[in-house]
Amino acid sequence: MSGILATTPALWYLARGSGVVSLALLTATVVGGITTSARWATARWPRFVVAALHRNASLLAVVFLALHVVTIVIDGYVPIRWLDVVVPFASAYRPAWLGLGAVALDLLVAVVVTSLLRGRLSRRVWRAVHWLAYACWPLAVAHGLGIGSDNRQPWMLLVDGLAIVSVAAAAWWRLGPASGPRATSRPSAIAAPRPANRRRGM
Ligand code: HEM
Repeated sequence: MSGILATTPALWYLARGSGVVSLALLTATVVGGITTSARWATARWPRFVVAALHRNASLLAVVFLALHVVTIVIDGYVPIRWLDVVVPFASAYRPAWLGLGAVALDLLVAVVVTSLLRGRLSRRVWRAVHWLAYACWPLAVAHGLGIGSDNRQPWMLLVDGLAIVSVAAAAWWRLGPASGPRATSRPSAIAAPRPANRRRGM
């Protein structure tokens, strides 16, 4: 069922390029999520802006990821079935590295769907699933490094290096400086404007 279009260089470049963009957006999503969870905000970067960037980066990551897998499958340059996109380690083509990508995709879809249904879920369930996003990112990095044709190219190593440094720095900041009382007790006026009567102490 794969390879319904004849392979073309343009489609194959699109398949790989969209994978790289997905990884960059997933990295931005994870860094944004760490920043949001620390309730970081400044006058220039209010909390709702940081949260919106995090949300929009994740939705955009899903769009590029869809482009990545659809172009990979329909291009047919490598033998990958639709089933291999969601069922890990079942592919005939490089099952281990492709499987990591499939697990990352499944986790990302679970995180995005539960976030869209957040109002209908308990906070505990939503949070438990949301933690999966942290597992999704290293799996996606390993997938790209393991299977990508460009994984030895200097520009690809730069993209991977920047992604790893960004998430490591955000995690270090979250577990260190941002875990102190000052980070979580910033004035909420930065996060959202208060009603006028509350400002007057009513
Ligand atoms: C969160 C999930 C995923 C991310 C972030 C991601 C990202 C990437 C990246 C960065 C590359 C390297 C591209 C290059 O070297 O030019 C890549 C390659 C690849 N990905 Fe994914 N991917 C994901 C999931 C999947 C899934 C589910 C499939 C199944 C169809 C898949 C199939 C492939 C294939 C076949 C390649 C090798 C392309 C080549 O030879 O360069 N990926 N992916």
